[in-house]
Amino acid sequence: EKGGFDHFMLKEIFEQPRSIGDSMRGRVKADEGTLQLGGLSDYMDKLAKSKRIVIIGCGTSWHAGLVAEYIFEELARIPVEVEYASEFRYRNPIIKEGDIVIAISQSGETADTLAAIELAKSKGALIFGVCNVVGSSIARATHAGAFTHAGPEIGVASTKAFTAQVTVLTLIALAAAKRKGTISDSLFRQLLVELESIPAKVEKVLQAADKIKEIAYIFTYARNFIYLGRGLNFPVALEGALKLKEISYIHAEGYPAAEMKHGPIALIDEDMPVVVIATKDNSYEKVVSNIQEVKARKGRVIAITTEGDTYLPGIVDFTIEIPKVHDILMPLVSVVPLQLLAYDIAVMRGRNVDQPRNLAKSVTVE
Ligand code: M6R
Repeated sequence: EKGGFDHFMLKEIFEQPRSIGDSMRGRVKADEGTLQLGGLSDYMDKLAKSKRIVIIGCGTSWHAGLVAEYIFEELARIPVEVEYASEFRYRNPIIKEGDIVIAISQSGETADTLAAIELAKSKGALIFGVCNVVGSSIARATHAGAFTHAGPEIGVASTKAFTAQVTVLTLIALAAAKRKGTISDSLFRQLLVELESIPAKVEKVLQAADKIKEIAYIFTYARNFIYLGRGLNFPVALEGALKLKEISYIHAEGYPAAEMKHGPIALIDEDMPVVVIATKDNSYEKVVSNIQEVKARKGRVIAITTEGDTYLPGIVDFTIEIPKVHDILMPLVSVVPLQLLAYDIAVMRGRNVDQPRNLAKSVTVE
């Protein structure tokens, strides 16, 4: 049932070209320039007119929410707040008419997320769900939504559910932007075409699996890791760090690259591996200077770079290349090498990758 893979997690990482495709199936038609989200079509007007979106979730689903924050604000110009469901539910949150809450959950059974939904509902909010499991408690508790259709995710570490969540949230943001008129027709069409190219690009990253394994081997016994990224790649840094800590039990932290100088830079020395997402996007130059700061303190840098970047290999210790992707869609591709890196290190350390200690696939208790 693992389809020839050693673990469900690896199988699920390798399924992503298909699962990302499935999350768009019947929704995106790039050749016609159309996008349809059946479960939300009756609510599109409300979404386009909403004054604020509050996104709630936990763990990896919360990270998908952080990615969505950038995309909604950029494309649809709707202010977004992203909250841990566990904090939201105890905070007497301010919910006003015209606010929309989007709850993200792979399992649809996370207790904190469910309680946060009930609270928002009692305050009169309109609630959308982005769930993977059809018929789950969260899917039933929301007013409307869009399923991620990633297929069953067995590994405790969430992988294909994350990329499907980000895909579906991108579609929702695009649909809202189109309805609001905040996106040009040409960018709308371009992003649909780019979305359809993502599965092939993820496939290409998966072909770098052997190279990633070699890097994992070198860092198997590291005691700490720092992950850095800016903009849309900041939540990817958080996600990379979460993957590593939950399955390898190595202490890892994700930071926005520019925050380093406000504290964490004190940790950098020759024993500190630093994974930097340094793709060619609008923050590339800034990230390069953050890398130079790390190198000046003898940190060991593993950089995720854009194919054809000839500069970074000269200044960092290791590079993992990914194909060129539109800035907005970058996390769908840049997260994949981080999933593989965490997986390989955990396997090399002999960890129980699919069922790490102290963790359950769905956290149905507080
Ligand atoms: O099923 P959910 O998406 O609601 O689960 C939320 C978190 O418990 C989950 O993402 C957790 O952080 C994963 N183990 C991360 O890999």
